[in-house]
Amino acid sequence: MSVVIYVPRDAAALAVGADAVAAAIEREAAARGVAVTLKRNGSRGMLWLEPLVEVETAAGRVAYGPVRAEDVAALFDAGLAAGAGAHALHLGPTDALPWLARQQRLTFARVGITDPLSLDDYRAHGGGAGLARALALAPAEIVQQVLDSGLRGRGGAAFPTGIKWRTVHDAPAAQKYIVCNADEGDSGSFSDRMVMEGDPFMLIEGMVIAGLATGATRGYVYVRSEYPHAIAALEAAIATAREAGWLGPDIGGSGRAFELAVRKGAGSYVCGEETALLESLEGRRGIVRAKPPLPALEGLFGEPTVVNNVITLAAVPLILARGAAFYAGYGQGRSRGTLPIQLAGNIRRGGLIELAFGVTLRELLFDWGGGSASGRPIKAVQVGGPLGAYVPESQWDLPLDYEAYAGVGAVLGHGGIVVHDDRADMARLARYAMEFCALESCGKCTPCRIGSTRGVEVIDRLRGAADAGARGKQEALLRDLCATMVDGSLCAMGGMTPFPVLSALDHYPNDFGLSA
Ligand SMILES: Cc1cc2nc3c(=O)[nH]c(=O)nc-3n(C[C@H](O)[C@H](O)[C@H](O)COP(=O)(O)O)c2cc1C
Ligand code: SF4
Repeated sequence: MSVVIYVPRDAAALAVGADAVAAAIEREAAARGVAVTLKRNGSRGMLWLEPLVEVETAAGRVAYGPVRAEDVAALFDAGLAAGAGAHALHLGPTDALPWLARQQRLTFARVGITDPLSLDDYRAHGGGAGLARALALAPAEIVQQVLDSGLRGRGGAAFPTGIKWRTVHDAPAAQKYIVCNADEGDSGSFSDRMVMEGDPFMLIEGMVIAGLATGATRGYVYVRSEYPHAIAALEAAIATAREAGWLGPDIGGSGRAFELAVRKGAGSYVCGEETALLESLEGRRGIVRAKPPLPALEGLFGEPTVVNNVITLAAVPLILARGAAFYAGYGQGRSRGTLPIQLAGNIRRGGLIELAFGVTLRELLFDWGGGSASGRPIKAVQVGGPLGAYVPESQWDLPLDYEAYAGVGAVLGHGGIVVHDDRADMARLARYAMEFCALESCGKCTPCRIGSTRGVEVIDRLRGAADAGARGKQEALLRDLCATMVDGSLCAMGGMTPFPVLSALDHYPNDFGLSA
């Protein structure tokens, strides 16, 4: 009988040698006459253990990691093929590892478990049930399910998804579109990529359901060009879905049509902003459009368009399959369901943690992350990407919840968390935020285009000021500039760049030479 061994094909695993490990396993198995079936799965999200090799045994999967190609022979000697434990890299039953066992994986339930490109495997693990239910409902009933689930956009703005879908549903038009925002430009963010590489059929299913709900018959996934593996996985999965009748003129024999294609971005952060993204999709430079009109009414090619993040759309099949109340049963307040949190930066155990809203940063940093990778005290944590605030230790006990974070001038954004130890110079990081905005600004409005460059200059003057009086003057100027950017910018690029700057200034004044 053939032993099934899993080696991830996720880009994070490939980056640390997963292909070489897979090749070494095949070579070693052939040399020893051991029949092995190698499966390339998604990542389980324990990135410090990649490449994580798993062996299927009668008692479930057994994990080894991090495995290098040169470990493979010794692992076979130690009984890898039987899932035996006489090796330092043996971790035990995968599902019992505390990092995984304590999560509440709804969106990531299949990621790392199934073969991402096998529709049969997808179906065998519950995939397709949401689409089957959606096909039995009227469009307005699907929209109602999404509304009742409390799902809010996971791309950053946390807008209620059901309301967006209802607007598109109600808009009369011959052609409507579903656009998936897979630009994932935030620092420390990788959950979209993991879904596209590890469970692409879930995203396709979510987009087809969005089409059925709103009357849209065409969809595009706008993926950043830096994600070649995600693009390849999606394209392969779309071809399979089309063959299986999940896409095309007659979805599942329903007479309803939906077509889907992948479009590649060209490496611009602002092209993740939904209207710049639409410009880019239409073949133009990614410049932000003024709103109104909302994309839901006049979006792609001027037609009603749903623009949703990957994680938002990926949550939909489960909501349909298990019911709105099931999903809404997770979370707290107006933050319903789960958030796939991405822990990155200077952290001992980084990776993907899916939990209901309400967990605290302190729990994430220490219970999950194990503290900083450097072993030094953690000083600052940026939550929600490059436009997110630096959260100081005094706020680490706040529950992760959209409203709780908004209450302290912070954001959850896309759930990316970047950790810095006590060597971080917060004045330099504040300067970097302004510099990033100056580089990425689309240039349409003055507070952002000019303000960000002036911001870099003011921070330089503040850092180089000779005395307290000069520093005070530059601080006042910086705060004034930030207020102008917040109030006067056309989109959140210029409107939120002050968040990291002001949080650094407010919570770490010493780093600017200012007294607390
Ligand atoms: C500068 C900027 C960059 C953004 N980048 C992304 C991104 O990479 N991915 C994303 O889903 N949303 C991004 N957004 C948010 C989108 O404009 C939009 O709110 C989102 O795609 C809507 O989907 P959702 O409701 O599912 O979150 C960005 C916004 C701004 C202002
Ligand atoms: S805030 Fe910046 S990115 Fe947004 S529209 Fe204005 S110039 Fe463009």
